[in-house]
Amino acid sequence: MNHCVASHGRSSERSRNWFRANDQGARTAVPSSYSRIARDCILLLTLLAAPGQAGTGQTGRLEDPARFWQHDSEYAGSQACKSCHADIYSRQSASNHARSLRQAELVPELVGALPFSRFDRVSGYTLALSSNSASRVRLESANDAESSGATLDWAFGSGAKGITPIGRTDRGGWVESRLTWYESVGAIDFTTGASKYDPQNAIESLGRGLTAQQVTDCFGCHTTGYDERTSAPTADEMGIRCERCHGPGQAHIEAALDGQSLDGTIFNPSALSGFEQARMCGSCHGVPPQDNDFDALALLERTPHSVRFPSQRIVLSRCFNETFAELACTTCHDPHRDVSDEADSFDKSCLACHDTGARDHGTVCPEASANCASCHMPKERVMRHSLFSDHWIRVVR
Ligand code: HEC
Ligand code: HEC
Ligand code: HEC
Ligand code: HEC
Ligand code: HEC
Ligand code: HEC
Ligand code: HEC
Repeated sequence: MNHCVASHGRSSERSRNWFRANDQGARTAVPSSYSRIARDCILLLTLLAAPGQAGTGQTGRLEDPARFWQHDSEYAGSQACKSCHADIYSRQSASNHARSLRQAELVPELVGALPFSRFDRVSGYTLALSSNSASRVRLESANDAESSGATLDWAFGSGAKGITPIGRTDRGGWVESRLTWYESVGAIDFTTGASKYDPQNAIESLGRGLTAQQVTDCFGCHTTGYDERTSAPTADEMGIRCERCHGPGQAHIEAALDGQSLDGTIFNPSALSGFEQARMCGSCHGVPPQDNDFDALALLERTPHSVRFPSQRIVLSRCFNETFAELACTTCHDPHRDVSDEADSFDKSCLACHDTGARDHGTVCPEASANCASCHMPKERVMRHSLFSDHWIRVVR
């Protein structure tokens, strides 16, 4: 995981923003693009760049994340959006964003694979994952001499790729389970990165110990509301729901109910340029570097692992650069649904530019007229059990 996580407010201060206030709202930001042909203008862009647009290195933390929205409001909870936006609500509720965090004991794939046990050659301990009499997910590690255990209450990941439970050891520390359920194999295996650790005792054999800050970061990217005092998501808002992207919605609802103007009551990311949208989604999907950070851009090109971060890869594409960032995440994605429901529409998104008679830009492919992404956005095996589509759209040679 990268550590570009956003900061967040306590649920007791619900009007505060997840993304710490930045006076330069995205809507007023200087339009930006990575156009190679515009590199001569970079100095000028740099001079014009608003404070708070400061670049972050590709592995850097987003120190001053853009505030998506400028309105002030209390949070209402996604349920409150249902009555007026029923279609979006039902689609989004079933999406992997919404299911990205759940109570572990309620996750069918995970619970269905229990009990499970595996000897860990690296540590010399046997790991056992089970569901205890109170239906909570338990992880035990043992060798002949000693044993240790943890109760894993939170399941991260919808299951589109994997589900990793996290929780507390019997001594009270946070731990990320050394075992993960993977969709591609339909079974439990070692968590990605586990082999990098060399556990020295039973407790370390349970998994990677997490600091309070890391736990905050995990919940920060996988929930809408999170209570730092109890180290738990607020019950009604597990997963990534409406107000995580649109900002707090109470004032919007009240205005709608009163028949008042809705202007400025809720944030709609469709108003963002492609670059600002890449940054917004990139607050979780990998923050792209600034236009003039050529070192960071070159590093991204050389780092295969960056395929995991679509916002960082897309800015390398000519489709993005040579349309002055007209290409946005929402050109191809409906953020309220999963990619599996969009398979039929991706070609259409490409052909909007790359077809005879398409607008002013766009060469037509000499090789094929369908399944564009299969060749130009190939799926790469970034981790042993997970494929990611390379958003650096190009002729891959
Ligand atoms: C009482 C009805 C009502 C409720 C409840 C409601 N909205 Fe809306 N919303 C509207 C209306 C009316 C519009 C304007 C027409 C449209 O786009 O559907 C709107 C528009 C929007 C827009 C587009 C705004 C724009 O500037 O383009 C967003 C985003 C939005 N709502 C999000 C939400 C979210 C998130 C919630 C829950 C926190 C919510 N709404 C709850 C009535 C409501
Ligand atoms: C708060 C963090 C966060 C933000 C903001 C965010 N995402 Fe995500 N996104 C995630 C997480 C976490 C997942 C993985 C969900 C899972 O499968 O568990 C995900 C998954 C996805 C997927 C894959 C869904 C599938 O089919 O499995 C797409 C596509 C996506 N996000 C697009 C976007 C776009 C576009 C935006 C901006 C409009 C965005 N995301 C903003 C965290 C975020
Ligand atoms: C910067 C935001 C961010 C942070 C911090 C973060 N995640 Fe994620 N997580 C994502 C996004 C985005 C995805 C979907 C794309 C991907 O897998 O990279 C995801 C996917 C996942 C998945 C699904 C499996 C997979 O590989 O797609 C698991 C499990 C997961 N995260 C667990 C965690 C845990 C545990 C932590 C804390 C140690 C954590 N995440 C911290 C953003 C974040
Ligand atoms: C991952 C971020 C994300 C989440 C979560 C999210 N939205 Fe959106 N929403 C967007 C983006 C981005 C757009 C702009 C879509 C576009 O330009 O095509 C949008 C557009 C909208 C609109 C404007 C109408 C439209 O179709 O363009 C409404 C209304 C809306 N969202 C309501 C909701 C509600 C209600 C929820 C929760 C059930 C929700 N959104 C969850 C990112 C999100
Ligand atoms: C907003 C318009 C737009 C969209 C949408 C778009 N492209 Fe492009 N793309 C361009 C432009 C402009 C260029 C630059 C040269 C040209 O005209 O082909 C380009 C270049 C390319 C190139 C050549 C890259 C190189 O390195 O030489 C490929 C391949 C490509 N696009 C494939 C795709 C595919 C596949 C999709 C859909 C997944 C797509 N494009 C979507 C505008 C777009
Ligand atoms: C030109 C079209 C296009 C654009 C623009 C685009 N995507 Fe994608 N995206 C795709 C395709 C195609 C897939 C693979 C779908 C599949 O698996 O069938 C995908 C998959 C994903 C996934 C699922 C994980 C993976 O790698 O398979 C995430 C997350 C995602 N996109 C996020 C984003 C974000 C964030 C942006 C904006 C920075 C974005 N996408 C812009 C076409 C696009
Ligand atoms: C079977 C793999 C494959 C598929 C499918 C495919 N392409 Fe290509 N495409 C290529 C190859 C290979 C080239 C490079 C051809 C060359 O340089 O002679 C290319 C070149 C391109 C170019 C650059 C043309 C130029 O002259 O610079 C664009 C744009 C493009 N493809 C878009 C698309 C779009 C849009 C689709 C879907 C309608 C698509 N491709 C489907 C393999 C494919």
